Amino acid sequence: MGTFTPSFAGDVAFVTGAAGGMGRACALAFAAAGAKVLLCDVNDAGGEETAAMAVAAGGEAVYRRADVSSAADVEAAVGEAVARWGRLDCAVNAAAIETETVLLHEATEESWDRMQAVNLKGTFLCLKYELAAMLAAGNGGAIVNIASTNSFRPQPHQTAYTASKHGVLGLTRQAAIDYAPLGVRVNAICPGGIDTPMLRGAMERRGRDPQDVANRLSLIGRFGTPEEIAAAALWLCSDSSSYTMGHALAVDAGYLAR
Ligand SMILES: NC(=O)c1ccc[n+]([C@@H]2O[C@H](COP(=O)([O-])OP(=O)(O)OC[C@H]3O[C@@H](n4cnc5c(N)ncnc54)[C@H](O)[C@@H]3O)[C@@H](O)[C@H]2O)c1
Repeated sequence: MGTFTPSFAGDVAFVTGAAGGMGRACALAFAAAGAKVLLCDVNDAGGEETAAMAVAAGGEAVYRRADVSSAADVEAAVGEAVARWGRLDCAVNAAAIETETVLLHEATEESWDRMQAVNLKGTFLCLKYELAAMLAAGNGGAIVNIASTNSFRPQPHQTAYTASKHGVLGLTRQAAIDYAPLGVRVNAICPGGIDTPMLRGAMERRGRDPQDVANRLSLIGRFGTPEEIAAAALWLCSDSSSYTMGHALAVDAGYLAR
């Protein structure tokens, strides 16, 4: 079977949550495909490491700290991409947190607020500044929000996370209809169980056996890799998906089909 090998030569990409997991894989994939990449996170060591990995592989990437729940941080990070390279073409909004272990009636207001601030407001802020930069550059663009299978089907004890991921899908669809006429395509990826620090942490907190979880979350008994998400993200950001907008692409080894 063939493989899809995109080229983003001359393009500028912005990736959040790029210190690890899917964000890192997306940043490295963009850099390998020739894009200049501005990557951000709140984990400075991981972010710097991702940038160094991209540069060591011959790409161009710069890390800048940005908490996606802060408008000032996101505006400055997107602004740095434009100041350095003069435009913004693609963005993947992957930053999120998942910290719950309790039922709704036991959840704290603080936990709810932080989850919405990072996962939902963070996606709003990223879209806001990315869209503004794309419109200003006048070249159109493509944005991918990382939602979740939780955008359709909740998992136990994930009240705030599930609500935030439903919201991310709503934001995606709203932005898609408003900005398609202006030349920017907005889509979402809904990952299933992907082997990242977030999933490992969630299984550890709940005392779950990884193979049992992989069997439950996929039709093929394994977790996905961050690279399998990056491949989908780059396709959605490429001209090869020019007729795809407002779409929620499940990359979940059939979990939602079951
Ligand atoms: N791993 C899975 O199985 C899975 C499944 C469905 C959806 N997702 C979603 O995929 C995306 C990527 O998650 P992942 O699994 O790679 O997780 P991860 O924890 O490995 O990566 C998330 C990154 O976001 C960063 N981050 C957290 N808060 C931030 C903030 N306020 N500002 C900037 N960066 C921040 C973290 O430091 C981390 O580097 C998330 O949106 C997550 O909700 C993950």
